[in-house]
Amino acid sequence: MRIRPTARRTAAALVAAASLVAVAGPASAAPGSPGSPRFTDGSTSGGDPYFPAAGNGGYDVQHYGLDLSWAADGRLDGTAVVTLTATADLASFSLDLRGLTVSAVRVDGKPARYTQLPPGEDGRGGELVVQAAPKLRAGTTHEVTVVYGGYPGQPTDAEGALYGWVTFPDGVLVANEPEGAPTWFPVNDVPRDKATYDFRITVPEGKTAIANGEPVGEPTTTGGRTTFLWRATDPMASYLATASIGDYTATTRLGPDELPILDFVETGVTGDALTTTQASLALQPAMIDFFDGVFGPYPFTSFGSIVDDDTVEYALETQTRPVYSQVASETTVAHELAHQWVGNSVSPATWADIWLNEGFATYAQWMWTATRPGGATEQEQFDAVYAIPADDEFWSVVVADPGREGIFADAVYDRGAATLHALRTEIGDAAFGDLLRRWVTENADSTVTTADFVALAEQVSGRDLDALFTDWLYTPARPAGY
Ligand code: TRP
Ligand code: ZN
Repeated sequence: MRIRPTARRTAAALVAAASLVAVAGPASAAPGSPGSPRFTDGSTSGGDPYFPAAGNGGYDVQHYGLDLSWAADGRLDGTAVVTLTATADLASFSLDLRGLTVSAVRVDGKPARYTQLPPGEDGRGGELVVQAAPKLRAGTTHEVTVVYGGYPGQPTDAEGALYGWVTFPDGVLVANEPEGAPTWFPVNDVPRDKATYDFRITVPEGKTAIANGEPVGEPTTTGGRTTFLWRATDPMASYLATASIGDYTATTRLGPDELPILDFVETGVTGDALTTTQASLALQPAMIDFFDGVFGPYPFTSFGSIVDDDTVEYALETQTRPVYSQVASETTVAHELAHQWVGNSVSPATWADIWLNEGFATYAQWMWTATRPGGATEQEQFDAVYAIPADDEFWSVVVADPGREGIFADAVYDRGAATLHALRTEIGDAAFGDLLRRWVTENADSTVTTADFVALAEQVSGRDLDALFTDWLYTPARPAGY
């Protein structure tokens, strides 16, 4: 079933329709004359150096309407309505999708021809290539419907960690970073192409489905199947989408300015893990208040946590609603919350820039810890990192370009955070505070590079910081003299 399109989409369609009338160049125009279309095949690469198979070229997505149906045997059936605007004259274009079989594609309601290209030898990629008829003119907006299904199972990332749509006996934990979204929906899987999302998730009666944003109405049950609607109206990178399914206990809290905090803890989380989790989640309003002061106002329409009783062995900052494996510790909750500003609203342009997520969220976590009774100061946490022996391989990672298998290396987190502390020591607390707020405010809902951060740091401080950033971000050795 189609999900009601958003007002944003309707407005975009109207603008696109207007521009279609305005441009010259009917198909009969002389080849090469101004305005005449030169239809090309959209690239199957989004251009990321670490993950070239992720993402695509020739269009920009505004909205995903995902209608998902999950069965207890692990089968996923989906209908995705992708609203996209062509950025080139397209004869064909591709969406990332792997491990699932497509049974129909429609473009603006008309059946379209398509082919599926399987993942490469490294297990990355997987493309749905759609032949558009009629072809798509640059600047026009279209609705692409993909009907698909299969058994996602337990997909793994380039380092072997579980990610994407991870099936467990009692449900599903969904954590896509970095390029796992195609394990459950057809997508332009690059952080640059942010979009809004609607979810319609149907599960066996008794199970609960939790996605990003807020619920729309009450769930409805017919024939032993329950349907949950969720809507995420803030622009979101595809690696931050989730649609987790399980047996949850729900708790609602209020954050600063009446921000809804919707928490879901699986019934299998018990004992010490539950005690720790509940204590951490109870601190979320205070943490939001604290990070509001550090970065500026919380960037999204709601927050809250999903705590699964199964594990992928990490937590992820899924937008508005982080997911945790088996327990949510206080420092991890602070970390995933901080990501809402640094990572989710302000996202890395390429995966090589991931320290802009992890270094920043780790430093924010250090700042939170420093506010706690008996908590280590930022300087003490810096000192603990700096005390790692110079010959430890920790120091061999180039933080601003850690390599495809290094994006989650400890150094990306801890040396990344230490970089920010060294910067703070160099430019002073006042300039550092201004820098963090300007970084987040000026880059809200977009993507950034390390060069952008260096430039803003130099502008805000009025200093040449080349030596500091070269030492900390670009040199595979322990910086001397800090
Ligand atoms: N980005 C997550 C965080 O820091 C961590 C993460 C995602 C991760 N995928 C991973 C860590 C794979 C280790 C392995 O909150
Ligand atoms: Zn993180």
